[in-house]
Amino acid sequence: MRFHGIRWKKAVLVVFALMVVYSFLPMARFWLMEGAPLEDNNLSSAEILKENEGVYFSFIVWGDNHSGLFFNDSAAMKLIWHMNREDRFRKSPIDFVLSAGDITLDGAESHFRAWKKIQELIKYPVIAAVGNHDDLDLFNKYVGPHQFTFVNRNSYFIVFENKRGNPRKAGMEWLEEKLIEGQEYEHIFIVMHKPPFDPYQQDFYNEDNSYWAYRFRKLCAEYGVSMVFAGHKHLFKSEVFDGVEYIVTGGGGILIEIPEADGGYHHYVRVAVNNDYVTYEVRKVSPPLWQVLAYYMWKEAVYWFRNWYGSGYIFGRNTEILPEREPHLHDPEHWSPATM
Ligand SMILES: [Fe+2]
Repeated sequence: MRFHGIRWKKAVLVVFALMVVYSFLPMARFWLMEGAPLEDNNLSSAEILKENEGVYFSFIVWGDNHSGLFFNDSAAMKLIWHMNREDRFRKSPIDFVLSAGDITLDGAESHFRAWKKIQELIKYPVIAAVGNHDDLDLFNKYVGPHQFTFVNRNSYFIVFENKRGNPRKAGMEWLEEKLIEGQEYEHIFIVMHKPPFDPYQQDFYNEDNSYWAYRFRKLCAEYGVSMVFAGHKHLFKSEVFDGVEYIVTGGGGILIEIPEADGGYHHYVRVAVNNDYVTYEVRKVSPPLWQVLAYYMWKEAVYWFRNWYGSGYIFGRNTEILPEREPHLHDPEHWSPATM
């Protein structure tokens, strides 16, 4: 009996070890493969969409795949495997994949070459917005224009750049001009990198109070935007402001630092347009097994421990009242367009 017990344990261990190795194997293909050609870029993808007709379709949105680090590319490949199966029930055509930016680890040329492999693996046309980690010149070389509009069927899409700090007057004027142009379509969708609000807990960046975010949200309400997609924060989160749905989808492969319970998981979003109606579903994809063992189970354990312990509540009572960081926000002038 004992002999058999040991054999079983060994067999289970061997199978588990093989599963771990198997979960890493797609990277061998990734390292050996060629990327999509430079001509396959935002413009050529938008050109393909011009031929689409009809009033129902789907598209996929994701963000922050951060190509160029094997951790990220391995997880992104698993996401893509699922994306490429999205049309298996043939409910509605998947017209294209939209990225909310941070397509590269940190904007190096090798990271863009890795992105072209990611693009090659996706079977649908790909359009990407630029993220704060994507070098602008290299983005233009490998991906094409970083601020433009395109049309698919009954919908108007605005790719908006907010990578270089907060958008200024010219950027907001461009946006309003495009929102006016989009009025003749059933839906307007906007994709950009940084969300116009703080989607996660205590955020130093104070995006909620910045003038551009305030103006942006008001413009979206005024011009009846259907949905706004952003990334930047490595999580899934959705909010509604003034009837406009804002979706933060930043879990496209990056090594995620946010706890799973707060939306810190790999995922993409499938958006469905049925004539005048828009819905979406979030597709959560677990990381490859080797990453679960090497990182994700430890991440969750650290948060579990931190939440149990708190962070210093035994020793400090946080009784000091801190002054506001940006006192000028009290001034009504801050909230007027002249500020930009
Ligand atoms: Fe990012």
